[in-house]
Amino acid sequence: MKAAVSPMTHSGYKIARILLTEEQIRSRVLELGKELGRDYENKRPLLVSILKGSFIFLADLTRAMQIPHELDFMVVKSYEGTQSTGTVRILEDLHQSIEGRHVILVEDIVDSGLTLEYMRRNLITRKPASMEVVSLLDKAEARTVDVKVERVGFTIPDEFVVGYGLDYNQLYRNLPFLAVLDPKQI
Ligand code: IMP
Repeated sequence: MKAAVSPMTHSGYKIARILLTEEQIRSRVLELGKELGRDYENKRPLLVSILKGSFIFLADLTRAMQIPHELDFMVVKSYEGTQSTGTVRILEDLHQSIEGRHVILVEDIVDSGLTLEYMRRNLITRKPASMEVVSLLDKAEARTVDVKVERVGFTIPDEFVVGYGLDYNQLYRNLPFLAVLDPKQI
């Protein structure tokens, strides 16, 4: 049996506690993948992943969706440290048109909602046949704009979290679980 990875094996990383274990994440992502596979059968959806934070979620979600689908990526930046900068910059855009496509926007976390609101507005102008958002995490209490999130993996408290793709100043993404960052680090 595989031993669970403990924070102790990641020396140099300062976390307060584990919020979601590898097992909790794995089983929820499998469920989301199954649901999407069922709802988009015969639609050849396009998963648009917002990098960098969603890369591990996407890798697991795409393998859990057992229907033909495509992937594309956008790199956006809205945070410095733990603070939203309030403006969203597209560092790299999609490589294809989404006109007439069934788009599933894959996000790691919706916090204030500013990034997602911008992304929704931006992508809708490109005339997809449909668009929905699947976010692994939702910090519902932290929302400052009213933005729709069709599917959520987990609703979490308003604390800064790291791991499973999410970073603090570009570190911590490789933790296989989701952890609350030690507030003394911020
Ligand atoms: P929003 O625009 O405030 O909703 O923030 C969305 C983006 O901020 C996410 O896609 C993440 O990249 C980043 N973010 C927000 N909260 C956290 C967090 O707790 N940990 C790591 N990144 C976060």
